[in-house]
Amino acid sequence: MSHHEMSVPWLRPTVCRGWRATMLMFSLGLFLILAGSVAAKEVALKSPDGKIVLRVDVERGVPRYAVAYGDKAVVMSSRLGMRFKTATPLDEGLRLGKVERASLDRRWEQPWGERRQMREHYNEVLVHFLEQAPKGKVTNGFAVRFRVFNDGVGFRYEIPPQSGQVHLEIVDELTEFAMDPASTAWWIPARGWNRYEYLYKATPLSEVGRANTPITLKTPDGIYLSLHEAALVDYSGMSLDQKRSGLLKADLAPWSDGVLVKADAPFNTPWRTIQIAPDSVGLINSDLILNLNEPNKLGDVSWVEKGKYVGIWWGMHIKTYTWGSGPKHGATTKNAKYYIDFAAKNGFSGVLIEGWNIGWDGDWFHNGALFSFTQPYPDFDLKEITDYARAHGVRLIGHHETSGDVSNYEAQMEDAFALYEKRGVRIVKTGYVADGGGIQRVDENGTRRYEWHDGQFTVNHHLRVVKAAARHHISINAHEPVKDTGLRRTYPNWISREGARGQEYNAWGVPPNSPEHTAILPFTRMLAGPMDFTPGIFDLDFGHGLDAPTRVQTTLAKQLALYVVLYSPIQMVADLPKNYEKRPKAFQFIKDVPTDWEDSIALAGEIGDYVAIARKVRGGADWYIGALSDEKARTIVLPMDFLTANERYVAQIYRDGPKADWKTNPYAMVIEEKPIARGEALRLWLAPGGGVAIRIHAMGRK
Ligand code: NOJ
Ligand code: CA
Repeated sequence: MSHHEMSVPWLRPTVCRGWRATMLMFSLGLFLILAGSVAAKEVALKSPDGKIVLRVDVERGVPRYAVAYGDKAVVMSSRLGMRFKTATPLDEGLRLGKVERASLDRRWEQPWGERRQMREHYNEVLVHFLEQAPKGKVTNGFAVRFRVFNDGVGFRYEIPPQSGQVHLEIVDELTEFAMDPASTAWWIPARGWNRYEYLYKATPLSEVGRANTPITLKTPDGIYLSLHEAALVDYSGMSLDQKRSGLLKADLAPWSDGVLVKADAPFNTPWRTIQIAPDSVGLINSDLILNLNEPNKLGDVSWVEKGKYVGIWWGMHIKTYTWGSGPKHGATTKNAKYYIDFAAKNGFSGVLIEGWNIGWDGDWFHNGALFSFTQPYPDFDLKEITDYARAHGVRLIGHHETSGDVSNYEAQMEDAFALYEKRGVRIVKTGYVADGGGIQRVDENGTRRYEWHDGQFTVNHHLRVVKAAARHHISINAHEPVKDTGLRRTYPNWISREGARGQEYNAWGVPPNSPEHTAILPFTRMLAGPMDFTPGIFDLDFGHGLDAPTRVQTTLAKQLALYVVLYSPIQMVADLPKNYEKRPKAFQFIKDVPTDWEDSIALAGEIGDYVAIARKVRGGADWYIGALSDEKARTIVLPMDFLTANERYVAQIYRDGPKADWKTNPYAMVIEEKPIARGEALRLWLAPGGGVAIRIHAMGRK
């Protein structure tokens, strides 16, 4: 061991010591004196408000970075680097090269979203890492671009051609996130057969295995963090694998041949993101992921349609209908007209119809090759239905279930979008139920290959679909998708997606979604972007009895709250029409609530316990609030600081009744109106598994 190492043993990236050491470095400002025999320099960069501090250096030839929030280390000294199948690895023997600094503060507008006005405000440093002298030049080195915002850090690799090779095959990305192992983590496993559809676990970080992102953490210092990625384009999705206690390492989904990423240099990786906030709701109020994506590439997107939709859908999940043909076939012309009438009568713009096309009769879970995307079943008259819809001011929402057979889908995709475009369809829901082993493609040699849902092949497939759809003025709502990384900024027709356990699990899931599931989603999955959760089930046990193991584990009021809490520019009104007709007063909230917002503010919450979010109607003066609780009852107090002074408001409150309980008394609900003004506070009781939905109706100047 060298003298250098002995004198500062805490420099070594062993984890347990590593994080305390890094804290010490931050508190004592020791980075500059680490130079020693390896001549390391350091680069420091602060967020515009000065609270977040990033440091980059090279230790014994290995590039590293660390992040602090105030005087607290949040990411301890962590490795950067890349290894290739044939080119020389970019992992050691490196030194700091040129450092280029920049800053940006600009506003941009979202065509739809949680808020209209966005502020992209960061300090940036592009750090070059070069071959160490005197070894001579073997590689071309690489650069990492870091951006530090007030709400977190993003960084990406910028890789030039290496060893004379333009085509590079990545076999390891060495990016690490060394965190305090005593942090609490909310996470779902990665690379499981069920994609992202798992119940979240809350464990010490030290107990995390391989996790999907976003993974959200609370440090022992009470700082909230979420690790994810932004702008996942032409690269494999990143999971995080715990290599040593507290040390999460990038773990990219491999191709079927084992290579992680195939790229032609020069190329940039997606942004690796670290959202940082002093409180839990700060994560929800962060726009970091969107700010790290490229601006809109589609130009005029006024054809992108938001809104609420009903559908021939829940009926299949609770077995009232079938997707396939036969006596219970859901997608019939007659049934379609009934749903169109219901949508038109209640002001909903879309009707989703699943099971309309040939292919559902076989073992569709395992055989996507059966699907035709242009040929309807004989009892489904596409022209008659879409003409009827148009006459009633409603549009069909198309459906393309692929069962993961991407080759079969891509061969028909162009015709399928052209057909729908001709029939006035503006939104298509896609599906990748791939329980036959994964996403399938037929390669150049005609061999069937199985790929991951978040591997580079599938990442590229989704973007091919979104771009093809855009040419037909169609927006895409993907189920069993690749995770969201904010690409809606660049492609605003990528309108929503699933990518977590949605309402469907309450129809057949064993277990169904727990009451705390929707108190975790806003702090985890929803940080990535909109989710097509499909709220609004009014018949909570669909005849099975309230003590049935599989049922909706919420109160009625909580189903209403979901429309505000779980953001999506398209929201399903998911239950059977007859169940809404039985409860017209509660249904009124669903008719009123919009899906597009001028602004959104997460007001209060704790991960897995409760959350309260306020949103202002886009182009209007009304506000909406949704709040929900886990399995515990609680009282929350929400100050109305966001309301406009001198404006008169009436709050229309849909709350749990005094004895409401998701288990035994879920339908007890009180609907009341009262005047409310800025400066006042609303005190609200949430039942076990309960919630509250509020429309704050602006009544004009005082
Ligand atoms: C799974 C989707 O999440 C669900 O919404 C859909 O009904 C089925 N696949 C069939 O496509
Ligand atoms: Ca699903």
